[in-house]
Amino acid sequence: MAKYAVKPTGREVTFGENDIIVSKTDLKGRITYANDVFVGISGYTEGELLGQPHSILRHPDMPRCVFKLLWDTLQRKQEIFAYVKNMTKTGNHYWVFAHVTPSLNERDEIIGYHSNRRAPSRESLARIEPIYKTLLDMEGRHGNAKEGMQASFAAMMETVRNTGKQYEEYVFTL
Ligand SMILES: Cc1cc2nc3c(=O)[nH]c(=O)nc-3n(C[C@H](O)[C@H](O)[C@H](O)COP(=O)(O)O)c2cc1C
Repeated sequence: MAKYAVKPTGREVTFGENDIIVSKTDLKGRITYANDVFVGISGYTEGELLGQPHSILRHPDMPRCVFKLLWDTLQRKQEIFAYVKNMTKTGNHYWVFAHVTPSLNERDEIIGYHSNRRAPSRESLARIEPIYKTLLDMEGRHGNAKEGMQASFAAMMETVRNTGKQYEEYVFTL
């Protein structure tokens, strides 16, 4: 659980289309680097972010299955693109289109992770928000978090499969 737990306000904040939010984490997803754009939009100081789990930004509207896909993909040493709704220190939210990559050493071992995020288009958000809402509702209908996440993960993959595309292609059609 994040150290600075806050309640969502429902207010959106945005950042410039040329801005890139950058962070790096260790193997456990604890923040080891935050650029100025990240510090600025998150509302936390650099000192408050460093050492914290990246879930410090987790918004309760985000379905868990998206993070499972993120971590599963990274463990396979692959990059992933994903839409993420994040929460600031005061409970406001901001949407990002994130590109997350594993950092490998010369022995091909994962030594950390790196993420660059841009502002998504309003059209993409209009498409992704109802999809995430459906997945979140599915997770909430299960008494048990693990079962809920398995069901939503299967539903998300089914949605992707039905398009005839792989997730890596599908995410760029949103
Ligand atoms: C490089 C990197 C960047 C991440 N960025 C975010 C982010 O911006 N927002 C977020 O909620 N989770 C992010 N995560 C995922 C979190 O580590 C975590 O899995 C997620 O917040 C779900 O947290 P929970 O499992 O405690 O519910 C990131 C992970 C990595 C490795």
